[in-house]
This record gives sequence, structure tokens and C-alpha cells, in this order.
Amino acid sequence: MNQAKKLIYFDNAATTFPKPQTVYDRMDQFIRSEAANPGRSGHRMAVEAEAVIDRARNEIAKLFGVKDPHRIVFTLNCTDALNMAIKGALENGGHVVSTQLEHNSVLRPLNALVKAGRISLTRVPHSKEGVVDPADIRKSIKKETRLVVMTHASNVTGSLQPVREIGKIVRETDAWFLVDAAQTAGCFPIDVEADAIDLLAFPGHKALFGPMGTGGLYVGPRVELSAWREGGTGGDSKSPTQPEELPFFLEGGTPNAVGIAGLSEGVRFILQEGLPMIRQHEFHLISRLREGLGAIPAVTLYGPMDAKHTTSTLAFNLKGVEPQEIGAILDQSFGIAARAGLHCAPMIHQSMGTYPAGCLRFSPGYFNTREEVDCAVQAIREIQKNFSNP
Ligand SMILES: Cc1ncc(COP(=O)(O)O)c(C=O)c1O
Repeated sequence: MNQAKKLIYFDNAATTFPKPQTVYDRMDQFIRSEAANPGRSGHRMAVEAEAVIDRARNEIAKLFGVKDPHRIVFTLNCTDALNMAIKGALENGGHVVSTQLEHNSVLRPLNALVKAGRISLTRVPHSKEGVVDPADIRKSIKKETRLVVMTHASNVTGSLQPVREIGKIVRETDAWFLVDAAQTAGCFPIDVEADAIDLLAFPGHKALFGPMGTGGLYVGPRVELSAWREGGTGGDSKSPTQPEELPFFLEGGTPNAVGIAGLSEGVRFILQEGLPMIRQHEFHLISRLREGLGAIPAVTLYGPMDAKHTTSTLAFNLKGVEPQEIGAILDQSFGIAARAGLHCAPMIHQSMGTYPAGCLRFSPGYFNTREEVDCAVQAIREIQKNFSNP
């Protein structure tokens, strides 16, 4: 039996599934017939592999309004990009402003730097709906603030943050603005110029439809990072130290060229479909889900009440049932894949009052349907009924 066909996959906030057919086809073709080490040797096959990577850089740059594609650095995932940015920006210490919404990929590197006595940190709170007030960011910035780092949207509630407003505030200072676009890259508009973003960390394997093992960091012209890792870059072999120009400064070692070839197709799919179309479909799904679940009296919904202010992610709990238990029943009895627990973001659960059990998260994606949303709502109704009439 084909499990992938039967399953209702509602865990796109963790990684998207399925991918566009062109992504599978392209990776298969690349690894079978084109996968020389990009730029490492002068032969045609290596030069062409390098051109595949360059094309991916160009497409991603186009999607995020980046003028110079060399400022897009490929990474392993979003965590890698965030570490590259956070540790690279804070080598000489300083003060950092962040928020209580963050994923462990931001919380943990910052906590490690605080523990090592390298930085001081101000964490701003969020509203009941999971939104940060730009005025709180403004108040927290000091003369010695080096970095403001925050997520573009919570991976728990989906709540979209006023990134453009905050970017403008940070731009008036000497600090750099790092945005974690794990939940928005590919499904919500991002323009690094208009949003005044200095550093943009993004995964390739979520809404950009690439495979796992891909991600990237945009490094803006105001920023100087220290090297993340030193190593071979293909060219400039005589130089005893890492070449200073981007992307090579941050891209030592053989890249995940197969993954990047797939990611390139994912981005092309988005550019062809059009991001507004993707956003509109996901908006309809999440609105329907919110409405359906909201009509069940035993359900508590978290985050903004209007889906206009969220990504395609919905957090909820069912009265009297542990979220982990609902997750297991959904998986085993209804064939619905969803994520229960703390979602690697413990602080937002503390402020929402859902710590330590967490909650359940449904995150439909572009390939989900209205019918699947209705099945999921019906599943929660049935689970609720069974628990209230055991
Ligand atoms: C908000 C946020 N930041 C960072 C990450 C880490 O992304 P990755 O798994 O690509 O390292 C995630 C992953 O779920 C996330 O949701």
C-alpha cells in the first residue's frame, strides 16, 4: 500500500511534503548525469554544475529582492544559517535584542553566548496573539546593541510579525537586523530592501520546496561576519586564508549540489505559480481549518484570530486530552501527520500557558486540499466525542 497516498500530511511547518514533481525529477537527473564537484575543476561538467548552483542563487535572490546574488550563501538548513549569522556577527560580543517567540535555533545559540559571558541579551515579550510590538524593540535597543534577531512568523501559532516596521527601527541604529524566515520563505512575501533586513536565514526544505539538507543566508552590504568555517572553495587555491568575497567566504567545502539543484526547481515552481497564488490557497485552507476547529466547543485555539495575520499554521488544544495523545490517535487511527508538543519553541508555550505539554499544530501546505481540512476537523470532532463519552 502506498502510505504517502493515504496520509494527510499536515506538518509542512516542519518540512514540506510532497515536493513539486520537477524537484524529484531534477535531483534524479542531476545526480545521475551532472553531479561533478561545482567549480572545483576546469572541466565542462564541473563548470556546468557550478552554473546550476549560480542559477539557484539567482532565483532565490529574485524571490527575496536581493540585488547581488553573491550575497546568498548556501547552508545545510535554517539552523546552520542562523548560527552562521549569530556567531559570525557577535564574535566581538555586544548586546542583542530578541524575542520570546523564537525557535531553539535562535534561543540556544544566544543562550550559549550569554552563558559564555560573550553577549548581553534583552528578550522582548509578545501579545496574547503571539505578536511582538515594534515599540518594545525600539525601547530595548541600546548604544551597544549589535544585533536584533527575530522570527518572521512563529512556528507555533503562525503569527506574522511586523518585520518591516521593526526593520526600519533597526536601520536607524548601528545594529544589524537578522530575520529567521523558516516559516515564511516561499509562502509569504519577503523583500530584503523594503523590509530593511540585513541578514535573512531561510531553510530550503520548507516552503521553498527543496530537499532536506538545504538552506541559505542572505548577507546584506551593511554586515561583516566572521568566517563560519574555512576550507576549499574551488578557486583561489594559492591563498593561505579564506577568500574574502561572498559567497565563498562563508561556503567552504563541497556544497549539497544535488539538493541545491532540487531547491532551484522548488524556487522556480514558486516563481511560476506565483507567490500570491500560494499564499491565497494556504490562506483559504487555514481559514477553513480555524473556522472548523473553532466551532468545536472543547477546542482552544491559539494565536491571531484572523488567518490574515498568520502563516498556514494553527495551534490548538482539546480540553482534557494531552496533545501527544491526540497526535498519536490522529496518526494511527486517522492517517493524519501533525506535530504535538513544544515545537522546539519552549518560551512561547510558557507565555501562552501551554508549557510543558505544549499543544497540537496543524500546518497544511500548498498541496493540501479543502477536503483534507474537513477530514482533519471531523477527526478532532470524533476524538472529542470519544473522550467525552468513553
Ligand atoms: C522558526 C524556525 N526557526 C528555525 C528553524 C530551524 O530550521 P531547520 O530545521 O531548517 O534547521 C525552524 C524549523 O522548524 C523554525 O520553525
